[in-house]
Amino acid sequence: NRDLLMKNMSKEQDFPLTFEEWEQQAAENMLPGGFGYASTGAGRGETEKRNAEAFSKWAIVPRILQDVSTVDMSVKLFGRSYKTPFFLAPIGVQVLAYEEAERATAKAAAVMEIPLIVSTVSTCSLEEIAEAVPSAPKWFQLYFSSVHPELSYSMVERAEKSGYEAIVITVDTVMAGWREQDIRSGFSPLALGYGKGNYVNDPVFMKSLPNHDQESVIASIFENIQHPNLTWKDIAEVKKRTSLPVLIKGILHPEDAKIAVEYGVDGIIVSNHGGRQLDGVIASIDALPEIVEAVKGQIPILLDSGVRRGIDAVKALALGAAGVLIGRPFLYGLAAAGQKGVEKVLERFIQETEVSLALSGMADLKQISKLKMVRQ
Ligand code: FNR
Repeated sequence: NRDLLMKNMSKEQDFPLTFEEWEQQAAENMLPGGFGYASTGAGRGETEKRNAEAFSKWAIVPRILQDVSTVDMSVKLFGRSYKTPFFLAPIGVQVLAYEEAERATAKAAAVMEIPLIVSTVSTCSLEEIAEAVPSAPKWFQLYFSSVHPELSYSMVERAEKSGYEAIVITVDTVMAGWREQDIRSGFSPLALGYGKGNYVNDPVFMKSLPNHDQESVIASIFENIQHPNLTWKDIAEVKKRTSLPVLIKGILHPEDAKIAVEYGVDGIIVSNHGGRQLDGVIASIDALPEIVEAVKGQIPILLDSGVRRGIDAVKALALGAAGVLIGRPFLYGLAAAGQKGVEKVLERFIQETEVSLALSGMADLKQISKLKMVRQ
């Protein structure tokens, strides 16, 4: 019983601490189909596992006798300063975890001063979320629609109008991954209408429907979410239509990173979608160094997939990431204890990162590229 549980989580030690503990709590609070959807990877789940394991293969060679009495974790991205290097990854259909869905997450992000990336398939519309946290920094993640590019441009325009500060185009989802858990359970959050907030509030989408019944809405969302024929030309078109920075999420190959720079993309998110898309791909932390080398500091590179605690973030930053996206950990915090749960997860990330930077001899995140890393 979640209400009882949340009442009981009043003291620090009442909250789960590790990722595994939060996950366990989420498993108890979520419906089995929803938890299976959120927690498993595609295929054999190799990449989902590899993401987290790969962090353990990178080792820090710390420095000593540095003055680390204060640690500056601030980062600057696209002309804006942030207190920490963390972002909340775009995660759709958050009603699976908690009734208030993205509004609760957004409030937690605002309290912790961590920017939020809102998914195209969020339960609440991007406008509702913006209304819940008008002054908090927010980015919008776009699933480009190949069948209705005008719908994609409309969403970008709405995001810009609602105060979102960047557009993240996810490109590793040309179609849904091979997710056996969901095939077996028959569970589909989109089919249940859990991710329709941004669609049903879009004039272009509504106009494109033959009629407005639920069946027609759902069928059209399925059609619009995939983008098998999306190419760099479309990215250039989005760039033309917005004054916001445009990031590409889902790059793993250094050549693609170079092309992104050529196309004037403003930032890259190294990601394999938490192992939910193509199984068997490289862990994102292992893909990072070559991409950093290819991009040569021309645009910022962020990373997600497998980040489970502060020390993982420190490793990603030391290997050249300018920011780190937290994914499943915050979703489990949301499922375990709503807004407060997300806040706790984020607080622990921040605290562990601060301690880890100090113990590495790094008083200032801007110097982190000097931190020596080896693979073991
Ligand atoms: C996601 N992710 C995702 N990405 C995206 O661009 N748009 C989306 O709507 C979603 N939705 C989504 C739902 C769920 C349940 C999960 C777990 C993930 C991927 C997300 O942004 C991020 O890349 C991964 O979550 C990172 O992996 P870890 O660290 O969460 O394992």
